Order: sequence, then C-alpha cells, then structure tokens
Amino acid sequence: MFDKKIYIKRRSLLRDDVNTGLILILGNNESPMNYPANPYPFRQDSNFLYFFGIDKPGFTGLIDIDENKDFLFGEDFTIDDIIWMGPQPYIKELADKVGIKNTGNLRKLKEQIDNAILKGRKIHFLPPYRAENSFEIERLLGISNIKNYASKELIKAVISQRSVKSKEEIAEIEKALDISYEIYMAVMNIAKPGKYERELVGEIEGIISSFGSHYSFPTILTINGETLHNHFHGNKLTKNRLLIIDSGAESPEHYASDITRTLPVGGKFTSEQKDIYEIVLESQICAIKATKPGEKYRDIHLKVAQVIAQGLKDIGLMKGNVADAVKKGAHALFFPHGLGHMMGLDVHDMEDLGEDLVGYDDIVKRSDQFGLAYLRLARELKPDFVFTVEPGIYFIPALIDQWSSEKRYKEYIDYSKVEKFKGFGGIRIEDDVMITDKGHRVLGRTQIPKSVKEIEDIMV
Ligand code: GLY
Ligand code: MN
Repeated sequence: MFDKKIYIKRRSLLRDDVNTGLILILGNNESPMNYPANPYPFRQDSNFLYFFGIDKPGFTGLIDIDENKDFLFGEDFTIDDIIWMGPQPYIKELADKVGIKNTGNLRKLKEQIDNAILKGRKIHFLPPYRAENSFEIERLLGISNIKNYASKELIKAVISQRSVKSKEEIAEIEKALDISYEIYMAVMNIAKPGKYERELVGEIEGIISSFGSHYSFPTILTINGETLHNHFHGNKLTKNRLLIIDSGAESPEHYASDITRTLPVGGKFTSEQKDIYEIVLESQICAIKATKPGEKYRDIHLKVAQVIAQGLKDIGLMKGNVADAVKKGAHALFFPHGLGHMMGLDVHDMEDLGEDLVGYDDIVKRSDQFGLAYLRLARELKPDFVFTVEPGIYFIPALIDQWSSEKRYKEYIDYSKVEKFKGFGGIRIEDDVMITDKGHRVLGRTQIPKSVKEIEDIMV
C-alpha cells in the first residue's frame, strides 16, 4: 500500500473532476472456482485499488462530492472467520491506512444510498466487468440493465487521472519489470530442444511466485507464435522453431509488466528467421525512437507498418509502392494487430472503462480497416503515459489462404513466396515505454536482451 496521502490526493482530484453527487466504487469479492470456499486467486478491482488502496475482498468505497467525505464499507470479521484465516484487521484500521475516517457495514451502505436516492442525488459508478458486481450495483441502486447507467463523467475523470503515472507508479512498474528480466534470462537458458512449452511456463510462473507475485495476464508461450494469444502449452520444442514468450508479472501494488521476446530454439536463428527478426526489431526500435509528447500513437503505428512493409519488400514478400500498400492495409496480412496499449494497474490499462475512451481522443477516431481497427492506443501521447511497443510479423495460414484465394492486394503481396512461409510461426518484440517531458524512456532497470547477437550469445 502507498502512503495514505496518495489515496487522499487521488480521491480529492476525483472529487474536483466530477461535478456533484456520490461516487460508488465497488471492490471485488472472492470468485469461486468450483464451490464457494475454493476461490481463484484474489485480484482486487484496479479502480478500487487506485482510490481506496485496500487489497482485500468485500469492501466498497463511497465518495460524497458535495459533503467532501469519503467512506469505506465492509463487514468486520467474526471469530468463525478468524479460526480459518487468522487475525484480521478491523475495517477502521484499514480505513485509517488510506486516510478515511468514516466506516460502516454493508447495511449502512445501503441506507446511505437509499437516502441519497430519496433526495434525488446523482450516484456515479463505473461499468462493472464481473456479473456479481453488476448485480450488487443493481441491488443497491434499485435499477436493472446497468449498462445504460454507468457515469460517463466519472469514467472520463478516472481515465484522465489514471493515464498519467506518478513516480511511485513508475517505480512499481519497474519492480514488475525486474521480475520480467529474471523470467527472460532464465527462459533463454532453458528453451532447449526436447523441452515442453509447459515446462517453460512452469519455470516462468515459478519465478513469478517466488517474488510473491502473480502474472499480469495468462502467459503466452508457444512455438506457434502466428496465433497471437496462444495459451496452449503442450508442444515439444524442436530445433530451429521460433518460440514466442509474451508474459508479465505484477508488482507488490499490482502494477503490470508486459514483455515479449522471440527466441530460436537451439540457440541460433536460421537466416530466414534472422531476416524477419531484423525487420521486426528495426520497426520496434524505430517506434520507440518516435515516441514523444504530442505524437499520435496511430502515426507511429503506421510508421512501423511502413518499416515492416519495406523490409518484407526487400526480401520479396511484398511489392509495389510501400506507402500505398500501408495506406490500403496490405501489410496487415503480416502485422494484423495494433502497436501497443496503455499499461498500469491493468496490463491493458483501464480496458474495463472502454477501449476507445482510453486509447482514442477527440482528434483520433478508431479506423475500421482490418489491422488498424485492432489498435488499442492511437491518441496523442502525453508526458507520464506508459504503454507497450510491440510490433510483430506473423504467417497465419488461414489468413494467407483467405487473402490469396481472394487475390486481395495482389499488387502488393507475392503470394507464391508467402506460401513458403506457412509454418514459420511469428515474431513479436515488446517493451514497456513511458513518455517523458521531451521524449521517452524504455522502462526497466535492466534492459532485457533483444538483438540477434545478444540472444544467440546467451542461448548457445
Ligand atoms: N501481452 C498481451 C497483450 O498485449 O495483449
Ligand atoms: Mn502487450
């Protein structure tokens, strides 16, 4: 938990940004796997964590804008709970740690909400992503079809505050990146032919657990890297296959890291792999260099697409005018996803509040072109934004077959050559970057190797 002053300041800024009424922020509860007493690992709601700091299930926060008061509601533990869980803090003690004087049980919360409704006061809440929190808000407010009622004013205020990371938050992200560094250094040493993907996943998740952490999203580790979010881990590693590892951990305060590296099983890239790898790496370095305040991330995404299209043209897979190919979207056969996303307490930060509200603004609107439409972050970059830079090149057999049979963009793509790359897999390289006053900084106290030479030197 951060110092209580941080939570007091965050709530005060929120009060200033929302005009009138009450702000209701539900924490998460335990979520059962197969019966109530057997829950998934607990993950607190990120908005609750941000404004109320308490990393335990069963609490609700309330901010009264007009009365200038904050409240924490929850139930104190009974002796029955303590027998199973050990001694637990009282709600008053927890509230004090985050600078809140007013506490009550859940019955009191309902009374306070009922009172506010009777007086016709506005109650702001964020769009819930867990069914049980939807039901709870519906019960508390006496409404149904909750989707229509989430407060746009509150969503915008929360996004504007959480988008700009403080020093403490950057330090947390770098703690998560320390774990990522350990992960990748270990994996480069054990990704040998004959190992199973699941054994590597076990190593990674063991490292994460040994830091007392949890992954920030389920680990992607696969020799079939052309599937962007491949969570199947049953394949055996064979020499000369590419292995994509896209993984992240959480810091003690639950800030995320998100790093991808692509490794050659056996320790040496084939010349074909090296050709593609160098294109992705060049595009990633070019993207990072271009990040600074005032740049639109969509423009950087398109710059990357040009580097990728030019590189693929140089080795004969694409042809024609590169700028036109990118404008029309032909590169998306190989690079079908967006360049990156905001990162913070969530690996895709604040995606629960609406992807477009986080990643787009009044000037940059989402495209409906295949590939570009998947871009999660497109807006103008501002100091202290943190986001990923993660270009890739993939050879997706089903997509190649579809486009080839339709002769789509045949003036820009040499399908006879592309055909030979079916089975190649995919390459993605991802780092986490923050915008500074004048430029950018790649986050992480120690950079994770990514050049061909660095990787081969470690792996061989
Ligand atoms: N690293 C997973 C993702 O960005 O979607
Ligand atoms: Mn990512």
